[in-house]
Amino acid sequence: MAGIYVHVPFCKHKCTYCDFASYPREINKAEAYFACLLKEIDSRAQELKHMVFDTVYFGGGTPSFVNANLIGAALNRIKKTFNVAQGAEITIEINPGTVDEEKVELYKKVGFNRFSIGLQSADDKRLASLNRIHDAQQFLHTCELLGDQNISVDVMIGLKEQQKDEVKKTIDLAVKGGAKHISVYALTPEEGTPMFTTYLNGELPSEDETAELYDFAYRYLDKLGYKRYEVSNFALGGYYSRHNLNYWKRGEYVGLGVAASSCIENRRFTNTEKIDEYIRFIMNDCYAEIFSEKIEGDEIKSEFIMLALRTSAGINLDKYKNTFGVDFLCEFKEEVALEGDYLDIGENFVKIKDDYLYVQNQIIINFLK
Ligand SMILES: C[S@@+](CC[C@H](N)C(=O)[O-])C[C@H]1O[C@@H](n2cnc3c(N)ncnc32)[C@H](O)[C@@H]1O
Ligand code: SF4
Repeated sequence: MAGIYVHVPFCKHKCTYCDFASYPREINKAEAYFACLLKEIDSRAQELKHMVFDTVYFGGGTPSFVNANLIGAALNRIKKTFNVAQGAEITIEINPGTVDEEKVELYKKVGFNRFSIGLQSADDKRLASLNRIHDAQQFLHTCELLGDQNISVDVMIGLKEQQKDEVKKTIDLAVKGGAKHISVYALTPEEGTPMFTTYLNGELPSEDETAELYDFAYRYLDKLGYKRYEVSNFALGGYYSRHNLNYWKRGEYVGLGVAASSCIENRRFTNTEKIDEYIRFIMNDCYAEIFSEKIEGDEIKSEFIMLALRTSAGINLDKYKNTFGVDFLCEFKEEVALEGDYLDIGENFVKIKDDYLYVQNQIIINFLK
């Protein structure tokens, strides 16, 4: 498995919690940015022509905020230059309030077959306080425009004074909109964002309170048929995100555009976060990488374990043995004994017990080399 990620670093406004590479004030650079993206696509495709890609993901920022023709041209170029597999999963992130019928038709026509919508909350007052650009009604309208498509919805927990009924209302709205997949993200207070001040003021729920909201969401989603397959991700049968599963399986991926990361043949490299710098590099016929490292030995193992233990399937013991030439249960005999209460061990897997997946970090740390 391998995936292609395209970063679109533009948004209408900045949400109060967000430190992703997105620059509302630089939307006037969108055309120049996409022209460079096409150049980067051509070069990388030439370099990676031996690889087949099963997923393409346009994320951001807000890809749906920019002119849909730019998005269409970028996807067409990818399909023309890279080996994109037949039946590939092709996702675009959408912010409610940024699409109309025409845009949706164009997305479908060029080949997008999965639509990931940032809802965050069903509470209009909350959405306004997060500086979101939409309300709950606009979310439903976006879903109506998409019709019976493969829709994923992002929900946030751990927000100021958030109660279970808001989480329930948000999940209910996502279900009403036809979500086949729901991601539940616990708020990370990012330094430099307005939300960080809220955090410093002690106004955010405690870790235990957020864990309770998570537990509620997990159980409620389970009851509705959305099965957890990774700590933050839930899906109706078969609607897993193939793109994200590839990350968790430590598959290869190439990232295009500002701030995008790649991991190919155990070399991880990342593009600059600055739009101007990105444009300058590409216009000078260079890649825009500003960081590159070779991942070797135990680090590969640690990444494999860390990513696999975030998933409900856990570590596949055959795969571990085939990849690293050792038996996981022998190699980590002491750690497995120590953490035994939190682990489920089957014939061909080791996974974190369902009740402890949310606090997986504290368990995983013991298995890192
Ligand atoms: C790139 S955004 C999704 C698309 C679009 N920009 C939007 O916000 O609707 C990815 C998701 O990450 C989540 N997210 C962003 N910043 C976060 C933070 N600080 N803590 C937790 N989740 C966050 C939000 O749920 C958001 O929908
Ligand atoms: S719309 Fe998405 S990417 Fe843009 S600022 Fe908000 S959360 Fe961040």
